[in-house]
Amino acid sequence: MPRILTERLYTCYTRLGTRIERRDSIYAEELEVMNGESVTLRPPREEDVEKVYEWDRDRELAAWNGRPPIKISLSAARRDYLARWEDPSVKTFIIEAREGGATEAVGLATLYDFRHEGCEVGIKIGSKDLRGRGYASEAVELLVSYCFESLGLKAVRGSTLAHNTRMQRVFEKRGFVEVGDGSIISRFDNKRYTELFYECRRED
Ligand SMILES: CC(C)(COP(=O)(O)OP(=O)(O)OC[C@H]1O[C@@H](n2cnc3c(N)ncnc32)[C@H](O)[C@@H]1OP(=O)(O)O)[C@@H](O)C(=O)NCCC(=O)NCCS
Repeated sequence: MPRILTERLYTCYTRLGTRIERRDSIYAEELEVMNGESVTLRPPREEDVEKVYEWDRDRELAAWNGRPPIKISLSAARRDYLARWEDPSVKTFIIEAREGGATEAVGLATLYDFRHEGCEVGIKIGSKDLRGRGYASEAVELLVSYCFESLGLKAVRGSTLAHNTRMQRVFEKRGFVEVGDGSIISRFDNKRYTELFYECRRED
């Protein structure tokens, strides 16, 4: 978990009018909290561990990600998560949404593989009941603005299985274009699938 002793909070507005609050702390390199209309993206905290573990053990989510559900114990997973959430080469965000009057962690988004002035985005909405409500579309919009405007990147890349039409729709709605495809063997069921590669480039 990022250790924060003091933090400053300031706010800026993205091209699309969404609000990004930036928190600088003396330990964490930089923490961003991004507020959209229905979702907030914030850094993960220790109390998120159990929910993230539950998502990582979910067979359906694992299948969409082409990997097996995790089998390690909660305490081993906790160690892994806390180390990953401190790793400056990966930026993890919890997606929070207002559900039934309360704010709830509904999913997770990751920015990783930073190279060639770009990075990769990964996203999941944990509970099946909470999919299709526009949360991922809004989260991706916030993340792309963050990558271009705060991190100064020129491209955000993503990929998804060819039968994941929902994720393709999210990419396309958010200005990503399909740039290629490939064949992969899923580590979930050892079957061969087509993977589609997407990219969103900054307009200079
Ligand atoms: C893929 C995922 C991240 C999308 O998140 P979401 O919050 O459900 O997505 P949104 O509600 O923002 O948008 C979904 C879009 O797909 C559309 N959609 C929903 N079901 C669909 C289907 N079966 N076929 C085509 N489009 C579909 C929705 O109508 C919506 O488009 P619209 O806004 O034009 O109506 C989420 O469903 C998820 O976590 N799935 C399981 C894990 C996963 O697939 N992760 C991505 C791995 S690459």
